[in-house]
Amino acid sequence: MSEFRTLRGMRDFLPDETGLLRSIEGKAREVARLYGYREVITPVLESYELLAAKAGEEVRTRMYAFKDLGGRMVALRPEFTASIARLVAVTLRNEPKPIRLYCIGSLYRYDEPQKGRFREFWQSNFELIGSDKAEADSEILLLTNRFMKAVGLKGYVFKVSHIGILRSIFGREGVAEDAQNRALQLMDKKMYDEALSLLRDAGASEKCLKTVKEIVEIKGSNVNSILAEIEKLIQDYEEAVYALKNLARILKLVEAHALNVTVDAGFARGLEYYTGIIFEVYVPELNIALAGGGRYDRLVELFGGEPTPAVGVAHGLDRIMLAVQEQNAPLETRKANAAALIATNETLAPEGIRIAEMLRSEGVPVEMEVMGRRVTKALEDADRRGAPYVVLVGEKELTENSVVLRDMHKKQQQVVKIEDLAKILKDLGI
Ligand code: HAM
Repeated sequence: MSEFRTLRGMRDFLPDETGLLRSIEGKAREVARLYGYREVITPVLESYELLAAKAGEEVRTRMYAFKDLGGRMVALRPEFTASIARLVAVTLRNEPKPIRLYCIGSLYRYDEPQKGRFREFWQSNFELIGSDKAEADSEILLLTNRFMKAVGLKGYVFKVSHIGILRSIFGREGVAEDAQNRALQLMDKKMYDEALSLLRDAGASEKCLKTVKEIVEIKGSNVNSILAEIEKLIQDYEEAVYALKNLARILKLVEAHALNVTVDAGFARGLEYYTGIIFEVYVPELNIALAGGGRYDRLVELFGGEPTPAVGVAHGLDRIMLAVQEQNAPLETRKANAAALIATNETLAPEGIRIAEMLRSEGVPVEMEVMGRRVTKALEDADRRGAPYVVLVGEKELTENSVVLRDMHKKQQQVVKIEDLAKILKDLGI
């Protein structure tokens, strides 16, 4: 048989990487606890129609979609938001608002693999459902900030805009929604010239194109002056000004909390359901977004629920892992630090297993020698694995209900009573 490898864009996480992913996940769970979000688990496989509804061209064409054996068109989820909106529209429709939910899991997109871009990747995803207030948007920004800080990242920046600025302008110009979506997709890929010519073809005036071109140029971290500049440009588009004011209010609410914000009104996101603020998080070391989110006030309704405003974010855990590694962020990962246990001959195996099980019942982790090696070899192996202590079960000591406990760092050993062993190991920090 040929040598099997993981599929392109898929990867195995070895124990150290898994440890890092899990400790990042742990930080996401801690953030969820601090802000009152409750975890839900939704299926990896959903109806294609649900996932495709507002995913946007880019994500839609990259879904792992297929017919199941019942002939239904299904797909592996490329994101969580559609599933959460379904849950709220159907199962949680009578739940008092706001609803705060989070999920952690793997997502699937047939993206072109490159640094930080995989076909199976991980997100922690937070959704705040039922409020159309700026306080809700600010909470999503603040919890993302807290998460980035908690994993030890430095120098990260929030790129923000409000999709209502561009959509209101396009709408006033009579650009149909479908053309708006395509133009925003192009802008998401920074293909501004193509976006402008598409808008021209869709009926936008020269004045509008000039405004859009100028908007794209304005960006910066001096929030108030950037917002003022944009306002000047969009004065003739009343709804765009309204969107800008909403963005200003959200940014005002997070102002005192040291978020590093860059306003970039020409920025768009690939997903089509956004109606309000949109944002992404970047670190200087990587030119791909570590997180992305925004407000989507019509998705729940689209899936048959009550009109329900909502805002949320997804943190890309693979990319956060990469950023943590690039920055050497001091995120502690739990290392296996079990004690090793060696029965010094085969006939002592039952006694060895009994002692190991007794220790585990007391909460002490034990790695049992199972390779049938001689004591010297087994000790070498325990050393290689970084076992700080080794329990040697020997004939002579057993007659006195004792074992030998060896300190691998100090290279010293002592005889200890079996009944005291668990407490001694615990006191030693095992
Ligand atoms: P998104 O921007 O498509 O948004 O994805 C969020 C994050 O997932 C990205 O910023 C990135 O870190 C990570 N990500 C996306 N694709 C890949 C990939 N191929 N490989 C590795 N990481 C990737 C959403 O998914 C929305 N559901 C966010 C949201 C929640 N909006 C409102 N609520």
